[in-house]
Amino acid sequence: MEFLNHIYLQTILLLGGFLYYPFLLFRLVFSLVKFNFSKRYICEMNNQELLKKIVSHSKEYGFVYPSSEIYDGLSAVYDYGPYGSLLKNNIKEFWWKSMVQLNDNIVGLDSAIFMHSNTWQASGHIDAFNDPLIDNRDSKKRYRADLLVEEYIEKIHSKISKEIKKAEKRYGDKFDKEEFLKTNLRVIENSKKISEISKKLNHCLINKDLVELKNLILELGINDPVSGTQNWTDVKQFNLMFSTKIGSNVDTSSLIYLRPETAQGIFLNFLNVVNSTRVKIPFGIAQIGKAFRNEIIARQFVFRMREFEQMEMQFFVEPGKEMNFFDDWKNKRMKWHKSLDLGDHLYRFHNHENLAHYANAACDIEFLFPMGFKELEGIHSRTDFDLKSHQKLSGKKINYYDQKTKSSFVPYVIETSVGLDRLFLSVLSASYQNQKLKNGTERIFLKIPFEIAPIKAAILPLNAKDNLPEKAKLLYDELKTFFNIQYDEKDSIGKRYRRQDAIGTPYCITFDYDTLKDNSVTIRNRNSMVQERVLLSSTKDYIINNVSIDNLLTQV
Ligand code: GAP
Repeated sequence: MEFLNHIYLQTILLLGGFLYYPFLLFRLVFSLVKFNFSKRYICEMNNQELLKKIVSHSKEYGFVYPSSEIYDGLSAVYDYGPYGSLLKNNIKEFWWKSMVQLNDNIVGLDSAIFMHSNTWQASGHIDAFNDPLIDNRDSKKRYRADLLVEEYIEKIHSKISKEIKKAEKRYGDKFDKEEFLKTNLRVIENSKKISEISKKLNHCLINKDLVELKNLILELGINDPVSGTQNWTDVKQFNLMFSTKIGSNVDTSSLIYLRPETAQGIFLNFLNVVNSTRVKIPFGIAQIGKAFRNEIIARQFVFRMREFEQMEMQFFVEPGKEMNFFDDWKNKRMKWHKSLDLGDHLYRFHNHENLAHYANAACDIEFLFPMGFKELEGIHSRTDFDLKSHQKLSGKKINYYDQKTKSSFVPYVIETSVGLDRLFLSVLSASYQNQKLKNGTERIFLKIPFEIAPIKAAILPLNAKDNLPEKAKLLYDELKTFFNIQYDEKDSIGKRYRRQDAIGTPYCITFDYDTLKDNSVTIRNRNSMVQERVLLSSTKDYIINNVSIDNLLTQV
């Protein structure tokens, strides 16, 4: 009987197992897929969420506002608010001083936005400053055809990064990244895909083959992110320059363009600078100014704008020596970016295969924005293309006479060109911190490098009475001539700390009742929240030593 019972039980378990194990297996696979999917979803969402949070934080705390907002805004145009403009000015100051003050062979320039329209004929912008655009007939949305393919490539890149991260976790200290990249089949396959697609894309762009570009989009099965369809129009070229008329008389007025880069102002002034200063080759001319492009894609906040600011430097060198200077400037610029201490892993070089009409070498410094790695700065070896073209069209000789060799030549040019607004976004996106505190609350703070923070210190009397405000205002009056500071006596001290954290103020200086007795104040550090007792008489030096832009300049 026992035996029969046993057989009976076994049969039930076996039969149950047949049904139950596949069910378990199904559950397991389903959970894994769901887990993976949700991890990916959360990851992608985090990036989009982060950008959204930065956009709304920027508006709420006076960094960046959409332009003409009361008229429903103007696409891809933004205004910088009180703290945004301070931060932007500090970034500009750091760049300008790094270029013009630290290099005795670089001089500054501030050329006009309006330039003779022949400028753009000679530079090639009238004929060649085009982007390939494509429309989706269902969503009626317009895209840059090359960027659709680049985004597709970027997705494959993130697959590779995920494989690497997984393997890093699995193997810990024993992980050999180089070996892994060489041997992992999925990585090899994806890298091959990337190089094949990039090759095809470059071929289309170099040969301006718009039919092939559309075929590539179809071949890769790229869907419109809005409609989800592949109902694409043909690819067309679209010139990015804005034009307007100059002169008060309509009949005699002539067409001019808003400059799409500041560089041409430097080229047109090359001879003026050589003849009016003591510069000798190799030397550079640096300039900060507005540039305008009628961008097809008007998304991604201040990353891609129609009116933006560039910080460009053209370095003039002897022909044949340009490649050494190209490498030199690549390294110098990377070091400059990393000196901001936002995280070295956030930067990478990207060498160009598809060169612009004026370049014989080009490289981007890319930054890990919330939308992925994207161009922050371009470093280009522009040959003598621009100076020679202006020489030809203007009929004026643009030569440099070398006293040493007693010879004259048209110099070659290495250009460094960084978008101020992209730099601003890189600082903001790396600085945005949502920190969970030990008491269970959260604080949002901007970990902006102290040296470029908009407000350097806030002066906070503990109470708005008992002579604390009067004493605090004395320090405020003393410090305001040295840097931007704020005085605030409203709300609890905790709320005031949070307000300063949200705009990235490095130090809060609190006046309490002990201050009245011992002339010392509490200085709270934004990042660590650690508070230090400092003598009132040492406060100015304490802050200056930690926030001065000179600290950054010693590192570049
Ligand atoms: N003079 C060379 C030149 O203009 P570019 O790569 O077209 O080269 C240089 O632009 C930099 O200007 C870019 O690396 C980027 O930081 C910035 N930039 C270009 N277009 C921009 C836009 N629409 N909005 C914001 N920044 C832009």
